[in-house]
Amino acid sequence: ESTTDVDVGAIQPGQSIKAVFRKQPLFVKRLTPEEVAEAKADDAANMRDPQTLAERTSEGNEDILVTMGVCTHLGCVPLGAAEGENKGEFGGYFCPCHGSHYDVAGRIRKGPAPTNLEVPEYSFTSESTIRVG
Ligand code: FES
Repeated sequence: ESTTDVDVGAIQPGQSIKAVFRKQPLFVKRLTPEEVAEAKADDAANMRDPQTLAERTSEGNEDILVTMGVCTHLGCVPLGAAEGENKGEFGGYFCPCHGSHYDVAGRIRKGPAPTNLEVPEYSFTSESTIRVG
């Protein structure tokens, strides 16, 4: 199986980038300190697919969120990774196909998607590089 390397050092706080992993869209986002605080504050919220920010990020790098860019409803590519795109009501990603709203940690908060955006297996290969897969 193939792997994908992403330079996360180039991603500014509040910015997401799109990459490709095994022919599917991959989103890599660097959360701002405010977004980290918001995601942690929401850890205890009532969610469809409960997961904490810590469970969805790598220890010591909780500001780096790596998810598939594939809506867990019917597979559309959510908006929000590119500048100026609609991030939805929870400030993360928004799937326009049927209106799924994901929060800053990629957790489903509103709409038909059954589960959070998938976090693929990855690891840091240097301070600023991740290897997905
Ligand atoms: Fe995303 Fe239906 S495919 S809401």
